[in-house]
Amino acid sequence: MKIFKTRRELQQFALELKRSGKTVGFVPTMGYLHAGHMSLIDIAREKADVVIVSIFVNPTQFGPTEDLDRYPRDFERDLAMCTEHKVDVIFAPEPGEMYNADSSTWVEEKKLSGPLCGASRPCFYRGVTTVVSKLFNLVMPDFAVFGWKDAQQLLVIKRMVRDLDFPVEIIGAPLVRDTDGLALSSRNRYLSDDERTRALAIHRNLLAVREKVEADGASVLESALARARKGIEESGGRIDYVTALDVDTMEEPVSGTKALLVAAAVFYGTTRLIDNEVVELK
Ligand code: PAJ
Repeated sequence: MKIFKTRRELQQFALELKRSGKTVGFVPTMGYLHAGHMSLIDIAREKADVVIVSIFVNPTQFGPTEDLDRYPRDFERDLAMCTEHKVDVIFAPEPGEMYNADSSTWVEEKKLSGPLCGASRPCFYRGVTTVVSKLFNLVMPDFAVFGWKDAQQLLVIKRMVRDLDFPVEIIGAPLVRDTDGLALSSRNRYLSDDERTRALAIHRNLLAVREKVEADGASVLESALARARKGIEESGGRIDYVTALDVDTMEEPVSGTKALLVAAAVFYGTTRLIDNEVVELK
Protein backbone atom coordinates (compact mmCIF):
# COMPACT_ATOMS: atom_id res chain seq x y z
CA MET A 1 0.00 0.00 0.00
CA LYS A 2 1.39 3.39 -1.02
CA ILE A 3 0.93 6.42 1.21
CA PHE A 4 1.13 9.87 -0.33
CA LYS A 5 1.32 13.00 1.78
CA THR A 6 1.53 15.67 -0.91
CA ARG A 7 -0.83 16.75 -3.66
CA ARG A 8 1.97 16.73 -6.24
CA GLU A 9 3.00 13.11 -5.60
CA LEU A 10 -0.59 11.89 -5.65
CA GLN A 11 -1.51 13.70 -8.87
CA GLN A 12 1.65 12.48 -10.59
CA PHE A 13 0.86 8.88 -9.62
CA ALA A 14 -2.79 9.25 -10.65
CA LEU A 15 -1.76 10.61 -14.06
CA GLU A 16 0.44 7.58 -14.63
CA LEU A 17 -2.45 5.29 -13.65
CA LYS A 18 -4.72 7.07 -16.13
CA ARG A 19 -2.16 6.72 -18.92
CA SER A 20 -1.78 3.00 -18.19
CA GLY A 21 -5.56 2.56 -18.64
CA LYS A 22 -6.26 1.32 -15.10
CA THR A 23 -9.71 1.85 -13.55
CA VAL A 24 -9.48 3.97 -10.43
CA GLY A 25 -12.07 3.86 -7.61
CA PHE A 26 -11.95 6.56 -4.95
CA VAL A 27 -13.31 6.78 -1.40
CA PRO A 28 -12.88 10.17 0.31
CA THR A 29 -12.98 10.07 4.14
CA MET A 30 -12.02 12.06 7.21
CA GLY A 31 -10.48 8.96 8.83
CA TYR A 32 -11.23 7.28 12.15
CA LEU A 33 -12.53 4.55 9.90
CA HIS A 34 -15.30 2.11 10.79
CA ALA A 35 -17.35 -0.60 9.06
CA GLY A 36 -19.40 2.06 7.21
CA HIS A 37 -16.25 3.39 5.50
CA MET A 38 -15.08 -0.18 4.88
CA SER A 39 -18.31 -1.01 3.04
CA LEU A 40 -17.55 1.84 0.61
CA ILE A 41 -13.98 0.59 0.17
CA ASP A 42 -15.24 -2.96 -0.51
CA ILE A 43 -17.58 -1.64 -3.23
CA ALA A 44 -14.65 0.22 -4.82
CA ARG A 45 -12.45 -2.90 -4.53
CA GLU A 46 -15.03 -5.01 -6.39
CA LYS A 47 -15.13 -2.63 -9.37
CA ALA A 48 -11.72 -0.98 -9.71
CA ASP A 49 -8.17 -2.00 -10.61
CA VAL A 50 -6.79 0.55 -8.16
CA VAL A 51 -8.51 1.77 -4.97
CA ILE A 52 -7.49 5.15 -3.56
CA VAL A 53 -8.70 6.34 -0.14
CA SER A 54 -8.18 9.85 1.18
CA ILE A 55 -7.95 10.56 4.91
CA PHE A 56 -8.21 14.27 5.61
CA VAL A 57 -10.12 16.14 8.29
CA ASN A 58 -11.14 19.02 6.06
CA PRO A 59 -11.06 22.31 8.01
CA THR A 60 -13.21 24.25 5.51
CA GLN A 61 -16.30 22.16 6.30
CA PHE A 62 -16.19 22.88 10.05
CA GLY A 63 -17.78 26.00 11.53
CA PRO A 64 -15.85 28.11 14.06
CA THR A 65 -17.64 26.52 17.05
CA GLU A 66 -17.55 22.95 15.73
CA ASP A 67 -15.36 19.95 16.56
CA LEU A 68 -12.43 20.31 14.11
CA ASP A 69 -9.77 20.17 16.83
CA ARG A 70 -11.24 17.26 18.72
CA TYR A 71 -12.42 15.27 15.67
CA PRO A 72 -11.18 11.71 16.43
CA ARG A 73 -8.01 10.58 14.69
CA ASP A 74 -6.15 7.22 14.67
CA PHE A 75 -3.97 7.01 11.60
CA GLU A 76 -2.29 3.71 12.53
CA ARG A 77 -5.62 1.97 12.99
CA ASP A 78 -6.92 3.47 9.72
CA LEU A 79 -3.84 2.12 7.91
CA ALA A 80 -4.34 -1.37 9.35
CA MET A 81 -8.00 -1.39 8.25
CA CYS A 82 -7.11 -0.17 4.77
CA THR A 83 -4.41 -2.83 4.43
CA GLU A 84 -6.89 -5.52 5.46
CA HIS A 85 -9.39 -4.30 2.85
CA LYS A 86 -6.75 -4.22 0.09
CA VAL A 87 -6.58 -0.49 -0.50
CA ASP A 88 -3.79 0.37 -2.95
CA VAL A 89 -3.15 4.04 -2.17
CA ILE A 90 -3.81 6.29 0.80
CA PHE A 91 -3.70 10.04 0.45
CA ALA A 92 -3.21 11.60 3.87
CA PRO A 93 -2.09 15.22 3.56
CA GLU A 94 -0.99 17.21 6.62
CA PRO A 95 -3.38 20.05 7.52
CA GLY A 96 -1.25 22.69 5.77
CA GLU A 97 -0.75 20.70 2.57
CA MET A 98 -4.24 20.60 1.11
CA TYR A 99 -4.98 24.31 0.62
CA ASN A 100 -2.73 27.07 -0.65
CA ALA A 101 -2.29 29.67 2.07
CA ASP A 102 -4.01 32.33 -0.07
CA SER A 103 -6.54 29.99 -1.68
CA SER A 104 -9.52 32.08 -2.85
CA THR A 105 -11.62 29.72 -5.00
CA TRP A 106 -14.72 27.86 -3.83
CA VAL A 107 -17.11 25.38 -5.38
CA GLU A 108 -20.67 25.92 -4.24
CA GLU A 109 -23.90 24.05 -4.91
CA LYS A 110 -26.78 26.41 -4.26
CA LYS A 111 -29.97 24.36 -4.26
CA LEU A 112 -29.87 20.88 -2.74
CA SER A 113 -27.40 22.06 -0.08
CA GLY A 114 -29.85 24.67 1.27
CA PRO A 115 -32.03 22.81 3.83
CA LEU A 116 -31.21 20.28 6.60
CA CYS A 117 -27.47 20.30 7.43
CA GLY A 118 -26.94 23.21 5.02
CA ALA A 119 -29.29 25.35 7.13
CA SER A 120 -27.72 24.36 10.48
CA ARG A 121 -24.12 24.43 9.25
CA PRO A 122 -23.92 27.35 6.77
CA CYS A 123 -20.38 26.78 5.38
CA PHE A 124 -20.45 23.00 5.57
CA TYR A 125 -21.39 22.03 2.00
CA ARG A 126 -19.23 24.72 0.46
CA GLY A 127 -16.29 23.12 2.29
CA VAL A 128 -17.34 19.63 1.19
CA THR A 129 -17.86 20.49 -2.50
CA THR A 130 -14.60 22.44 -2.62
CA VAL A 131 -12.48 19.70 -1.06
CA VAL A 132 -14.17 16.93 -3.07
CA SER A 133 -13.54 18.92 -6.30
CA LYS A 134 -9.89 19.28 -5.37
CA LEU A 135 -9.66 15.57 -4.52
CA PHE A 136 -11.29 14.62 -7.84
CA ASN A 137 -8.73 16.75 -9.69
CA LEU A 138 -5.88 15.10 -7.79
CA VAL A 139 -7.12 11.48 -7.98
CA MET A 140 -8.89 11.63 -11.38
CA PRO A 141 -11.00 8.60 -10.44
CA ASP A 142 -13.34 6.77 -12.80
CA PHE A 143 -15.82 6.52 -9.94
CA ALA A 144 -16.13 7.58 -6.30
CA VAL A 145 -18.23 5.97 -3.56
CA PHE A 146 -20.26 8.01 -1.03
CA GLY A 147 -22.51 6.70 1.75
CA TRP A 148 -26.26 7.19 2.13
CA LYS A 149 -25.47 7.88 5.80
CA ASP A 150 -24.82 11.44 4.58
CA ALA A 151 -27.70 11.42 2.11
CA GLN A 152 -27.77 15.16 1.45
CA GLN A 153 -23.99 15.16 0.88
CA LEU A 154 -24.36 12.36 -1.68
CA LEU A 155 -27.11 14.26 -3.51
CA VAL A 156 -25.11 17.52 -3.47
CA ILE A 157 -22.00 15.76 -4.85
CA LYS A 158 -24.06 14.10 -7.59
CA ARG A 159 -25.49 17.49 -8.58
CA MET A 160 -22.03 19.12 -8.54
CA VAL A 161 -20.61 16.38 -10.76
CA ARG A 162 -23.53 16.75 -13.17
CA ASP A 163 -23.39 20.55 -13.30
CA LEU A 164 -19.59 20.88 -13.58
CA ASP A 165 -19.09 17.89 -15.92
CA PHE A 166 -16.67 16.00 -13.70
CA PRO A 167 -15.89 12.75 -15.56
CA VAL A 168 -16.55 10.75 -12.37
CA GLU A 169 -19.37 8.28 -11.70
CA ILE A 170 -20.84 8.71 -8.22
CA ILE A 171 -21.93 5.51 -6.49
CA GLY A 172 -24.23 5.64 -3.44
CA ALA A 173 -23.57 2.96 -0.80
CA PRO A 174 -26.16 1.76 1.78
CA LEU A 175 -26.07 3.16 5.31
CA VAL A 176 -24.31 0.72 7.69
CA ARG A 177 -25.63 0.36 11.26
CA ASP A 178 -24.36 -1.20 14.44
CA THR A 179 -26.21 -4.38 15.51
CA ASP A 180 -28.43 -2.28 17.81
CA GLY A 181 -29.43 0.04 14.94
CA LEU A 182 -27.25 3.09 15.64
CA ALA A 183 -25.88 4.50 12.37
CA LEU A 184 -22.10 4.06 12.41
CA SER A 185 -20.25 7.36 12.61
CA SER A 186 -16.79 8.50 13.67
CA ARG A 187 -18.59 10.90 16.03
CA ASN A 188 -20.22 8.02 18.01
CA ARG A 189 -16.86 7.96 19.78
CA TYR A 190 -17.92 11.12 21.68
CA LEU A 191 -21.01 9.47 23.23
CA SER A 192 -21.11 8.24 26.84
CA ASP A 193 -22.69 4.78 27.31
CA ASP A 194 -25.88 6.45 28.52
CA GLU A 195 -26.03 8.86 25.56
CA ARG A 196 -25.38 6.02 23.14
CA THR A 197 -28.33 4.03 24.53
CA ARG A 198 -30.58 7.09 24.35
CA ALA A 199 -29.44 7.83 20.80
CA LEU A 200 -30.99 4.55 19.59
CA ALA A 201 -34.26 6.54 19.65
CA ILE A 202 -33.25 8.27 16.40
CA HIS A 203 -33.30 5.14 14.26
CA ARG A 204 -36.25 3.65 16.14
CA ASN A 205 -38.38 6.74 15.50
CA LEU A 206 -37.34 7.30 11.88
CA LEU A 207 -38.13 3.67 11.19
CA ALA A 208 -41.57 4.16 12.74
CA VAL A 209 -42.19 7.11 10.37
CA ARG A 210 -41.13 4.97 7.46
CA GLU A 211 -43.39 2.07 8.44
CA LYS A 212 -46.36 4.36 9.06
CA VAL A 213 -46.02 6.15 5.71
CA GLU A 214 -45.45 2.89 3.85
CA ALA A 215 -48.64 1.49 5.41
CA ASP A 216 -50.94 4.54 5.27
CA GLY A 217 -49.45 6.87 2.64
CA ALA A 218 -48.05 10.41 2.64
CA SER A 219 -51.17 11.90 4.26
CA VAL A 220 -49.99 10.61 7.67
CA LEU A 221 -46.47 12.04 7.25
CA GLU A 222 -46.87 15.13 9.46
CA SER A 223 -48.48 13.23 12.35
CA ALA A 224 -45.83 10.49 12.08
CA LEU A 225 -43.06 13.11 12.14
CA ALA A 226 -44.64 14.80 15.17
CA ARG A 227 -44.69 11.47 17.02
CA ALA A 228 -41.04 10.85 16.07
CA ARG A 229 -40.00 14.30 17.36
CA LYS A 230 -41.77 13.57 20.64
CA GLY A 231 -40.14 10.13 20.95
CA ILE A 232 -36.67 11.55 20.27
CA GLU A 233 -37.16 14.40 22.75
CA GLU A 234 -38.33 11.93 25.40
CA SER A 235 -35.06 10.04 24.95
CA GLY A 236 -33.18 13.22 25.93
CA GLY A 237 -32.21 14.23 22.40
CA ARG A 238 -32.11 17.93 21.47
CA ILE A 239 -33.53 18.12 17.96
CA ASP A 240 -31.82 20.14 15.25
CA TYR A 241 -34.25 18.79 12.63
CA VAL A 242 -36.53 15.79 12.18
CA THR A 243 -38.23 16.24 8.84
CA ALA A 244 -39.01 14.79 5.43
CA LEU A 245 -38.18 16.25 2.02
CA ASP A 246 -38.58 15.13 -1.58
CA VAL A 247 -35.33 13.21 -2.14
CA ASP A 248 -35.02 14.47 -5.73
CA THR A 249 -35.50 18.18 -5.07
CA MET A 250 -34.74 18.63 -1.35
CA GLU A 251 -37.99 20.60 -1.20
CA GLU A 252 -41.23 20.02 0.68
CA PRO A 253 -42.94 16.92 -0.72
CA VAL A 254 -45.66 17.52 -3.34
CA SER A 255 -48.28 15.24 -4.89
CA GLY A 256 -45.79 14.02 -7.54
CA THR A 257 -43.04 13.19 -5.01
CA LYS A 258 -41.68 9.70 -5.68
CA ALA A 259 -39.56 9.19 -2.58
CA LEU A 260 -39.02 10.95 0.74
CA LEU A 261 -35.80 11.53 2.60
CA VAL A 262 -36.87 11.26 6.24
CA ALA A 263 -33.90 12.82 7.98
CA ALA A 264 -32.83 13.74 11.51
CA ALA A 265 -30.03 15.65 13.19
CA VAL A 266 -30.11 15.34 16.97
CA PHE A 267 -27.75 16.34 19.78
CA TYR A 268 -27.08 14.00 22.69
CA GLY A 269 -24.97 16.06 25.05
CA THR A 270 -22.70 18.01 22.72
CA THR A 271 -22.61 15.33 20.03
CA ARG A 272 -24.63 15.95 16.88
CA LEU A 273 -25.76 12.75 15.15
CA ILE A 274 -27.47 12.41 11.76
CA ASP A 275 -29.53 9.55 10.37
CA ASN A 276 -32.14 9.00 7.66
CA GLU A 277 -34.54 6.64 5.96
CA VAL A 278 -35.57 6.81 2.32
CA VAL A 279 -39.28 6.04 1.84
CA GLU A 280 -40.61 5.21 -1.61
CA LEU A 281 -44.13 6.52 -2.15
CA LYS A 282 -46.64 4.50 -4.14
P1 PAJ B 1 -16.65 10.91 6.60
O1 PAJ B 1 -17.64 11.37 7.60
O2 PAJ B 1 -15.36 10.29 7.07
O3 PAJ B 1 -17.38 9.89 5.65
C1 PAJ B 1 -16.71 9.39 4.51
C2 PAJ B 1 -17.71 8.59 3.68
O4 PAJ B 1 -18.17 7.47 4.46
C3 PAJ B 1 -18.96 9.41 3.31
O5 PAJ B 1 -19.33 9.12 1.97
C4 PAJ B 1 -20.00 8.90 4.30
O6 PAJ B 1 -21.33 9.00 3.82
C5 PAJ B 1 -19.58 7.45 4.44
N1 PAJ B 1 -20.10 6.86 5.68
C6 PAJ B 1 -19.88 7.30 6.96
N2 PAJ B 1 -20.58 6.55 7.84
C7 PAJ B 1 -21.27 5.63 7.11
C8 PAJ B 1 -22.20 4.58 7.43
N3 PAJ B 1 -22.55 4.33 8.67
N4 PAJ B 1 -22.72 3.86 6.41
C9 PAJ B 1 -22.36 4.12 5.11
N5 PAJ B 1 -21.49 5.09 4.75
C10 PAJ B 1 -20.96 5.83 5.72
O7 PAJ B 1 -18.24 12.52 4.65
C11 PAJ B 1 -17.10 12.89 4.89
O8 PAJ B 1 -16.22 12.14 5.65
C12 PAJ B 1 -16.53 14.20 4.36
O9 PAJ B 1 -17.56 15.16 4.28
C13 PAJ B 1 -15.81 14.05 2.99
C14 PAJ B 1 -16.77 13.57 1.89
C15 PAJ B 1 -14.62 13.08 3.12
C16 PAJ B 1 -15.25 15.44 2.54
O10 PAJ B 1 -14.38 15.95 3.48
